[in-house]
Amino acid sequence: MITIIVAVAENGMIGDNNSLLWHIREDMVRFRTITSGHPVVMGRKTYESIGRPLPKRTNVVITRSDLQIEGCRMAHSLEEAFAMFDDEEEIFVIGGAQIYRQALPFADRLLLTVVHHSYEGDTSFPAIDETQWYECSRERFERGEEFEYPFSFVELRRM
Ligand SMILES: NC(=O)c1ccc[n+]([C@@H]2O[C@H](COP(=O)([O-])OP(=O)(O)OC[C@H]3O[C@@H](n4cnc5c(N)ncnc54)[C@H](OP(=O)(O)O)[C@@H]3O)[C@@H](O)[C@H]2O)c1
Repeated sequence: MITIIVAVAENGMIGDNNSLLWHIREDMVRFRTITSGHPVVMGRKTYESIGRPLPKRTNVVITRSDLQIEGCRMAHSLEEAFAMFDDEEEIFVIGGAQIYRQALPFADRLLLTVVHHSYEGDTSFPAIDETQWYECSRERFERGEEFEYPFSFVELRRM
């Protein structure tokens, strides 16, 4: 199973200047809880924005170069990254935009954190074809403990 996990603003933005647009503690906790124990696949730029391998997860970084990163497995395409794991494994694609765009056709599930606010940024999530996906859960929060806008955790599955 391949799951895309992403936090996206209501205008589609996901990042700016190789960093996130917000800090939502509840979302970070959810991300850690859901992905721990599973492989996480990311683009080289997202790895650099995180700056270290995520603990308790097999980290796979996709690059076209021959870069090696201690504590990470390297792949030169999404297909090569996915082929590292058995079919029963739940693989999480954790960004960024280039990797989400290429992974979308392979994904079985989308775990979105929709931030109900518009942001300016330079990186956006690709448009979702709504005929291909159905919503199976949605949980809305009016604000975070330290975050002032509403956000929703949404799960979509492929039809
Ligand atoms: N809101 C969220 O949930 C979320 C999550 C993750 C990231 N982000 C944001 O997204 C932004 C980064 O996204 P991005 O699109 O700029 O970069 P990215 O997708 O993280 O990484 C792009 C890099 O991945 C490699 N790559 C891409 N396609 C490849 C392919 N087919 N084969 C081999 N390598 C490939 C290339 O690395 P090389 O140049 O090394 O060849 C490319 O430069 C940041 O702002 C980050 O904060 C947001």
